[in-house]
Amino acid sequence: MEQRIERLAREHTLPPEDFRALLAGMTPAVRENLRRRAREAARARFGNRIYTRGLIEFTNYCRNDCYYCGIRRSNAAAQRYRLTKEEILDCCREGYALGFRTFVLQGGEDGYFTDDRLAEIVAAIRAGYPDCAITLSVGERSRESYQRLFDAGANRYLLRHETADCAHYASLHPRELSLAHRMECLYTLKEIGYQVGAGFMVGSPGQTVDTLVKDLCFLQELHPQMVGIGPFIPQKDTPLGGEKAGTLEDTLGLLAIIRLMLPDVLLPATTALGTIHPRGREEGILSGANVVMPNLSPAAVRRKYALYDNKVSFGEEAAQGWRLLEQRMEAIGYTLAVERGDYGD
Ligand code: 5AD
Repeated sequence: MEQRIERLAREHTLPPEDFRALLAGMTPAVRENLRRRAREAARARFGNRIYTRGLIEFTNYCRNDCYYCGIRRSNAAAQRYRLTKEEILDCCREGYALGFRTFVLQGGEDGYFTDDRLAEIVAAIRAGYPDCAITLSVGERSRESYQRLFDAGANRYLLRHETADCAHYASLHPRELSLAHRMECLYTLKEIGYQVGAGFMVGSPGQTVDTLVKDLCFLQELHPQMVGIGPFIPQKDTPLGGEKAGTLEDTLGLLAIIRLMLPDVLLPATTALGTIHPRGREEGILSGANVVMPNLSPAAVRRKYALYDNKVSFGEEAAQGWRLLEQRMEAIGYTLAVERGDYGD
């Protein structure tokens, strides 16, 4: 095992059968070994700086019906909201003053946000904050749409692939959604020139060592600039609401493997990781993560963007908790960076 880990750290890749053996043989000792090396790799590349992104959850309307997600269209218990352009710009103004230089606009696939409306919002942010990066996370759209949003000033796009195994994908999503189309979107986004983020939930129902090997091989092939992973957490009003949550340990092991595979990648310690364990975010950073994404959404809507149960959104999860978050990062030897933090910087 030691040799496999050594090889992964040196060559940034492994044959699928070695990824398989690594995942299947993930004892606590193996995981700690991976985490130590991943931490060193992140230190060598980024020093002790953690990049920050201000997350603006601007709509929880969604046309999709993903079985795991709390804002799926069939969830009648979800209280729907959408922010106006002015409210979104207010979030940016507040975020900029707090020190954020990346704004992440995330939402469900909401038909209200046509290309015209969304491009207008992106253009307004671009005009007001020329030194900031704009990240979009609004799901599957057409090439023309992605191009228009890029031309309006968006720089990055997050679209998790969720799982790189077709049958597993089909077990988590209704028939109208396909892995093939999700992957096509990711390649299109890359072609247009976005910095692209893929990723998946850890411990989603039906996930196995084999589906995870496919995830790692897909990440290797796509070579995204960002990877978002966090534990699956059941949401009680969804079809998968009675399933078990993913674990902290599994997520930390995978973060470490991804850091070693993609030494330059921007890798967040996600909100879901902070939700399943009080030290989740810190442990994520100590496994090679180098990004945090505090919540900039107006406090009044924050609880409504409930992808899963008990999502944390106040205290150091909130953008307003910058100082609190900074203290927690400093306690483990890191500092929050006030800069865009583009891939390859
Ligand atoms: N648990 C954890 N993560 C979830 N997501 C959606 N629902 C859940 C859940 N129940 C993740 C998906 C999606 C991202 C925005 O949130 O991976 O891509």
